[in-house]
Amino acid sequence: MRRPIFAANWKMHKTLSEAAAFTQEFLPLVAPREGVDIVLCPPFTALGAVAWSVAGSRVALGAQNMYRETHGAFTGEVSPVMLADIGCRYVILGHSERRQYFGERDDLINQKVKAAFAHGLTPILCVGETLAEREEGRTEAVCRSQALACTEGLSAEQAATLVIAYEPVWAIGTGRNCAAADAQATVALIRSLLAGRFGESAAASLRIQYGGSVKPGNTAEYMALPDVDGALVGGASLEAVSFAAICQAGAVR
Ligand code: 13P
Repeated sequence: MRRPIFAANWKMHKTLSEAAAFTQEFLPLVAPREGVDIVLCPPFTALGAVAWSVAGSRVALGAQNMYRETHGAFTGEVSPVMLADIGCRYVILGHSERRQYFGERDDLINQKVKAAFAHGLTPILCVGETLAEREEGRTEAVCRSQALACTEGLSAEQAATLVIAYEPVWAIGTGRNCAAADAQATVALIRSLLAGRFGESAAASLRIQYGGSVKPGNTAEYMALPDVDGALVGGASLEAVSFAAICQAGAVR
């Protein structure tokens, strides 16, 4: 039985005071919930403050990106060592916005995934097709190639603890969420591909989230799918009440 995992990707939102106001409101709302993992991924500037706020709570900290090296002359980058040091347990890697706006490719994302594991961080690895790719009937091919390229060289033990987020790019921030049956088909495909590479046991353990216009009102529909183990949430994670409602809907499974 895989434990559901809900992660808030705040993207480039929230100052320190806004992040503090969120955690103050959010933590009491999720305190009694058992059985789900909850992760907050603020921007780098708020990681320290959120780490301090969630210390001792059941809510974990994650970052939205990192570089593959531990230290060095890489102006503007943040390393896995720094993220672990500040209290992160998770790191989102390969988000479509990193791919689209910052030119990240599968080989770099694969290096980052390995670096995250090497420093005790659990990657939340994002894969997903664009609208054009979907319309060309290439959803499976794109997700297959991203999932395989980005997990190359991992051990079965690492793969078993990996979190993958299937985020169709056309569903991100559009309010146009993916039909549940389509999400299940793609997520099941990803799991079976990874079973082929890492074995059935690792594939049965690794968790796959759906992401893209997840709201309190549609979370239960995704959580009812046999291969979906949680959600990666953007817009609806910016309000404490709404993200808590999503976590609550996921705890029902
Ligand atoms: P939205 O929930 O705003 O669609 O964003 C999804 C996302 O990109 C999470 O990483």
